Amino acid sequence: MTTLILGGAGRSGSRILNRLTAASLPARPASRRTGFDWDERATWAPALHGTTAAYVCFTPDLAFPGVPEKMEALGRLAATKGLERLVLLSGRGEEGARASEAALREGGVPTTVLRCSWFQQNFSEHFLTGPVRRGRLRLPAPDVPEAFVDLDDVADAAVVALTRTVPEEATYELSGPDLLTFTQAAALLADARNRPVTFEAVDVQAFVDDLAADGVPTQEAEPLAHLFTEILDGRNASITDGIERLLGRPASPFHAYARQAATSGAWS
Ligand SMILES: NC(=O)c1ccc[n+]([C@@H]2O[C@H](COP(=O)([O-])OP(=O)(O)OC[C@H]3O[C@@H](n4cnc5c(N)ncnc54)[C@H](OP(=O)(O)O)[C@@H]3O)[C@@H](O)[C@H]2O)c1
Repeated sequence: MTTLILGGAGRSGSRILNRLTAASLPARPASRRTGFDWDERATWAPALHGTTAAYVCFTPDLAFPGVPEKMEALGRLAATKGLERLVLLSGRGEEGARASEAALREGGVPTTVLRCSWFQQNFSEHFLTGPVRRGRLRLPAPDVPEAFVDLDDVADAAVVALTRTVPEEATYELSGPDLLTFTQAAALLADARNRPVTFEAVDVQAFVDDLAADGVPTQEAEPLAHLFTEILDGRNASITDGIERLLGRPASPFHAYARQAATSGAWS
């Protein structure tokens, strides 16, 4: 009964791995550092061998060209290998990701899709850490409301979907409990840090230049920027009940995340 965690070294995968391990449930991480590579199909079968369920986290994004083909091949391989359950991490409002979601299900393995809002931890564990530290949150997006979700809630939800009986073909939209514009999120981050943080809408190039200052390569920053210009248009400006339905408790609010991240020294 071993669970495979694809992307197991990453932000969501490592959290899921820690939870399964703490519950004494056998789990195996897979990514390039363990020999699994999305770009090398020959590496997939050895990773899946002997596992009964898999968490599927694709990097950089399910909406990118060529990914549905990879998802279909993985879904079919999972069926051949006898996997009984798949849980796919996806994004809310990402029309381009829907083909990848459907393709993974082609193999017939029961699949739960978790469509997430923006992660709260983007501000402290990912590409916005530097901008928050500098007090200038500059994004290629208008000041739209977003229901930022806590990655720890996402990990808890994924563990439930991997280990308990949930409607197998279900798709859950996971959001946080509060709808915040970037200006409001910046104010909560400023409050938690006790230093000013402002939001400013900028063009794609300014965003890419900002990220370059933190060592994020252009080839990583540009697709992110274009994705944001697509999805940050207000389409996800609603709160969902996915976390409550899966966990039986409310989702964790942004201000609690911001305080905890500041206390742990994320922006020191
Ligand atoms: N950030 C958000 O707000 C948000 C919201 C909704 C959905 N999502 C989705 O969440 C996913 C990212 O999740 P995450 O933040 O948990 O991931 P992550 O922290 O970016 O980590 C993913 C892991 O994938 C591995 N990886 C990278 N390239 C690989 C390759 N070619 N083959 C095999 N493994 C590879 C890396 O480990 P190695 O270096 O060892 O390979 C990395 O640790 C994306 O699909 C994104 O669209 C994100």
